[in-house]
Amino acid sequence: MGLKIFSGTSSKTLSQEVLKHFSNISPLLNDGIKNNIDYLYSKNMLSNLGTSPKLGDIQISRFPDDELNIKINENVRGVSAFIIQSTCPPVNESLMELLLSVDAFKRSSSGEITAIIPYFGYARKDRKDEGRVPISSKLVANLLVTSGVGRILTIDLHAEQIQGFFDIPVDHLYAYPVITNHLKRNLDIENLVVVTPDLGSSKLARNYANRLNTDIAIIDKKRINGEETKVQNLIGDVKGKNALIVDDILSTGGSVVSATEFLKKSGAKKVYIACTHGVFCGNYQEKLKNADYEKIFVTDTVNSDFISDPSLRSSFRVEIVSVSKLLAYAIQHIYMRDSVSSIISSEDIF
Ligand code: R5P
Repeated sequence: MGLKIFSGTSSKTLSQEVLKHFSNISPLLNDGIKNNIDYLYSKNMLSNLGTSPKLGDIQISRFPDDELNIKINENVRGVSAFIIQSTCPPVNESLMELLLSVDAFKRSSSGEITAIIPYFGYARKDRKDEGRVPISSKLVANLLVTSGVGRILTIDLHAEQIQGFFDIPVDHLYAYPVITNHLKRNLDIENLVVVTPDLGSSKLARNYANRLNTDIAIIDKKRINGEETKVQNLIGDVKGKNALIVDDILSTGGSVVSATEFLKKSGAKKVYIACTHGVFCGNYQEKLKNADYEKIFVTDTVNSDFISDPSLRSSFRVEIVSVSKLLAYAIQHIYMRDSVSSIISSEDIF
């Protein structure tokens, strides 16, 4: 069975970056690789993608009334189809495009269809925590399964339990090994403390702290509405230390900005920010403009303007850390029926 990788509109740049790795990654599987079946799989996979790998040809256009019109312009019968599409802004458009694309693969008799959703939108509402609200992530999971997805590959879900909303395999990757390796290689920060801007990200902070060999501090944040948060308390010691705020999502920037202010007031020296998904929406510019941080590190899971605009990056001191190699390895391992968790434990390859 061959392998083909397609990109939706929201993940074009990331998908191109993922493909670049296929000409030069070697299997993570180690000893005796040349003598075992996995090597043959690997060769088969590389020959399917060719020496200059290209994305599969999928045409995404619109009918005059704005409905999406999708067509796969090549044979996908029996192939393992991977479609990369973050459900990032415009969220509903990205989601609908993904659902229709998967339906097209299913009706074209492709083999297993893997939806690679580097940033999984609609993840915030994962439970009914007040009356008369939907459980949005469960509905989105149902829609994806109904469309014909056989497997989900995603990075840093807002809540890990969303995996259980799918009755199909979910391979859940973490960006912290990629980001911490980048920090270790490019920053020499002494006397560092990792800070989580809310209680929900404390496990993430622990993962960062273990990799960076630091203590953690926890901010107790109250969300007032979608755009506003208030810091109520700080657990841990930041006085005289450099702080690294870590979170899964930077949306309007409100959480990291109020955390930065509070840390500075509490005696922190320099403040760095690392968030997996840089959504940068709403009035983020206004919020970040005067904030006293050194640098923001985000990955390329979300196709924000920062991905394509170096001057915007430099204005807001944003640095992009790519998860493309992580995804390339994951695709390879899924296709070869090899362990995906082994990628997570081989943290030093990124
Ligand atoms: C919330 O629980 C998330 O982990 C992020 O803290 C939140 O989405 C960030 O949003 P904003 O940047 O708008 O404060």
